[in-house]
Amino acid sequence: MRVLFVASEYAPLVKTGGLADVVAALPKALAARGVEARVLIPAYPAVRAALGPGAGAVDLGPLHGGPARLLSGRAEGVSLLALDAPHLYDRPGNPYLGPDRRDWPDNAVRFGALSRVAADIARDGAFGWRADVLHAHDWQAGLAPAYLRLGGIAVPSVLTIHNVAFQGIFPADLLGALGLPGAAFTPDGLEYYGQIGFLKAGLVYADRITTVSPTYARELMTTEFGFGLEGVISARRGVLSGILNGVDLTDWNPEGDPALPAPFSVRSRRGKAQARVALAARMGLAFDPARPLFCVVSRLTRQKGLDLLLAALPTLLGRGAQLAVLGSGDADLEAGFARAAAESAGRIGTQIGYDEPLSHLMIAGADCILVPSRFEPCGLTQMYGLRYGTLPLVARTGGLADTVIEANAAAVAAGVATGFVCEPDSLPSLADAIDRACDAFADTKLWDAMVRQAMRHPVGWDASAARYARLYAELSPA
Ligand code: ADP
Ligand code: GLC
Repeated sequence: MRVLFVASEYAPLVKTGGLADVVAALPKALAARGVEARVLIPAYPAVRAALGPGAGAVDLGPLHGGPARLLSGRAEGVSLLALDAPHLYDRPGNPYLGPDRRDWPDNAVRFGALSRVAADIARDGAFGWRADVLHAHDWQAGLAPAYLRLGGIAVPSVLTIHNVAFQGIFPADLLGALGLPGAAFTPDGLEYYGQIGFLKAGLVYADRITTVSPTYARELMTTEFGFGLEGVISARRGVLSGILNGVDLTDWNPEGDPALPAPFSVRSRRGKAQARVALAARMGLAFDPARPLFCVVSRLTRQKGLDLLLAALPTLLGRGAQLAVLGSGDADLEAGFARAAAESAGRIGTQIGYDEPLSHLMIAGADCILVPSRFEPCGLTQMYGLRYGTLPLVARTGGLADTVIEANAAAVAAGVATGFVCEPDSLPSLADAIDRACDAFADTKLWDAMVRQAMRHPVGWDASAARYARLYAELSPA
């Protein structure tokens, strides 16, 4: 089985969030199940550099006013196909935003071209390789299923929604430039309230739709979480499934993590204590293992509910707890956490920015990781927390609800509790969960049992890769 992944991010080369991690990890997990996935991504500077001068190359001719080539090579253990069109992708920094932090004005063409080339590869093959199934990820690849269907290309497609809040909506007058037929510009086709909807197009034309957790699959069909696409998604509920993301157990392995001062495991957790020492020093926190240390590793946006955490800081500090924050995003949240650190020096430490090794040290060295999201399609950091014995405190939404078991009396008695769960978008509920976590931390025996339970909780890709493999097999029987 050969599957063409189409996506705009690929970890660690180009990453703004969990999409990049999934696009890099899932192909490796699929390989163990006999599925050969190749990933088509734009040849951003980091991708071109990773492929190096030895990459295979074929000319594609002119594409939106500039030359284009398809490159082929391996990076980070996965076969990549890279769409090299310097006038579209040879831009530094974030893949979507210019230096003014606004969307590049030509994003419709940049990602329309990616989808168009994906459909061409599905039709013609590339470098002697042919795909049995095309698997598009998020809005940036949303037009690929449309090009397949509208172009009569008989390769089945899957669309995965990683976050319905981002939809790729562009003016209707781009139809011609994107090579899309006017006849398909209807509400049951490409049109989204008078504009072109890239994600919407994928939802209409893909043969199967998946999203990244079972709970988010249900939430997507509600007005509260569907961001206007709940009707389109509900109409296709028969082909929709929620398949939980996994964690790359090689990248996130406390027994062999180069970012930590010492390894640790569920049996021997001395190394976790050493990570705590290093983390406290790094974040300017007073070292005090008797106090619970909470951490946050996150984009700082409204989705993540971290404004609620700012409001809950009096509760956290009132319980004598500490907080370490690593993140970047909205200016008001960045300023809020910087101010909190300045006001509570030694008790709150804030690092604004993106720092992969520090993210590992934080998740290893803290006691509890906070993910109080308003919505969360899957979420990866709570699963890193489980694996590193850093108990997650999460909101009951999306993949957070599917991965963390609240330490209520029944779960504790049954020995299955792994964390703390609050209601989304509720300050009293978040503050209450912080209180419960502090109570649990004070009960050393209970905390130790939960840490062991969390570290044993399976968070790898195995089960979910098997589900994707079955889905592909249904679409393209051998
Ligand atoms: P989302 O994709 O919505 O941002 P996820 O939890 O799925 O949320 O994925 C976020 C990914 O980005 C995780 O791998 C997390 O560790 C990483 N991450 C987020 N912020 C930072 C940061 N400031 N520094 C390092 N890694 C970060
Ligand atoms: C999105 C979601 C996140 C999910 C990630 C990978 O960025 O916000 O919840 O884990 O995609 O699927």
